[in-house]
Amino acid sequence: MRPMSRRNALLLGGLGTAAIAAGGAGLWWTLSSRFAPEAGGDFTEPEQLRSSSGRLQVRLEASAGSMQLGGQQASVLGYNGGVPGPTLRLRGGDVLAVDLVNGMAVPTNLHVHGLHVSPQGNGDNVFNVVQPGHSFSYEYRLPADHPPGVYWYHPHHHGMVADQIFAGLFGAIIVEDAQPVDVSRERVMVVSDITLDGSGTVADASPMDRMLGREGELVLVNGQSNPKLSARPGERERWRIVNTCVARYLQLRLDGQQMQLLGMDSGRFPTPRNADEVLLAPGNRADVLVTAVAGDATLRAVYYNRGSMAGMMGRAGPAPNGGQRSGDLVLATLSVSGAPAAPPPAVPARPAPRDLRTAAVAARRQLIFAVGGMGMGMGMSFTINGREFNASRTDTTVAAQTVEEWTLINPGPMDHPFHLHVWPMQIVEEQGQTPGPSVWRDVVNIPANGQVRVRISFKDFTGRSVYHCHILDHEDQGMMGVIEVR
Ligand code: C2O
Ligand code: CU
Ligand code: CU
Repeated sequence: MRPMSRRNALLLGGLGTAAIAAGGAGLWWTLSSRFAPEAGGDFTEPEQLRSSSGRLQVRLEASAGSMQLGGQQASVLGYNGGVPGPTLRLRGGDVLAVDLVNGMAVPTNLHVHGLHVSPQGNGDNVFNVVQPGHSFSYEYRLPADHPPGVYWYHPHHHGMVADQIFAGLFGAIIVEDAQPVDVSRERVMVVSDITLDGSGTVADASPMDRMLGREGELVLVNGQSNPKLSARPGERERWRIVNTCVARYLQLRLDGQQMQLLGMDSGRFPTPRNADEVLLAPGNRADVLVTAVAGDATLRAVYYNRGSMAGMMGRAGPAPNGGQRSGDLVLATLSVSGAPAAPPPAVPARPAPRDLRTAAVAARRQLIFAVGGMGMGMGMSFTINGREFNASRTDTTVAAQTVEEWTLINPGPMDHPFHLHVWPMQIVEEQGQTPGPSVWRDVVNIPANGQVRVRISFKDFTGRSVYHCHILDHEDQGMMGVIEVR
């Protein structure tokens, strides 16, 4: 069992009194039991809030409380009392105004992951801090030509990002297509993981968890354990899938059904692309079409090897999730039966995305990701180009309106998913291979002992922002840099 934190000890102390009153065995049961989710309920979605007349005004209160998770009550964090927080639906050209209220005992702030908006002032500025009991009004102005797709929001206060997201602070953002895709229904699927003890309290991360990136024992979709979806044969559904996990990769399969990718992150494909597997690194999103075929199918996350620190520690180290193989998890079950639906109309073709491979490159840079320091317990350092994050230092200065090429190098034994705020990245070379069509992402996985080359167009906005590893334990420990575009 994990050592108990003071917070957990206080909570369990209270429960222990009741358990002792009920008989000595109760205390042991409370301490040793695991959280038991109820699986198989009907699929539900968080509340959806839509913009109207070009504006969406929302109040988001981050607070701790007893919330519904896996069909049980748990002591977690949530926005507006739920996990996930509400889904925000926007269009290009909209203004999103969020009053963030900090109802927690620790500082927080808000980041709109993947949105192409200004990082300055009360925009997507992660240097803002909202103290306990305080609030802050964010305002994000989406350009009229903002790419449609799936985005999300989460806290970004350095040092506490992994803890706060792991405990339940996240929600989806959808930017609608200019030309809608005909579907029978759309579903937002926010995937998260968490570890809870028998009393429903969030487990603390161990030093090993922090080094490898914590993976929760419980993997949930919209806060539910293996929810049940149903459809009729021939119906076309659109699934918006977000990987909000702190460190868990999701290698998704839907055997017996055909998935078609409309896009990932802000990247769109001109026509839907058949996919048997979709890999979502932490922070990535997929926009998927499923045309239902009669029968039962499970949406699963199968094992993905993201490396370990084995090589580094000079002995056979554990797998990233502490010894168990991650994956081979059932996320949701789709049952297809009933009268067949009429075949759906063709998906309208979209314009081919921009291709920076022919653009003039103003600067070339290298970013090297490293985990250093000596062994367990003595403190590891998580660096980019040898330096840990320092909010008052600017690591990379870029000329606005130029295109740069960055080579992301990972000489270590563990994958690092690289994320840049505000400006999406085009992958131009991955492990020595050049992708055919243009591939855009805002989280790019850099495999263990591997490298990826990306091009970035620093258009539309200036200001200071960040890039970092989206294994958020790594980010919190320093694997983040500051960029200034001017
Ligand atoms: Cu999803 Cu810097 O964050
Ligand atoms: Cu982000
Ligand atoms: Cu990392």
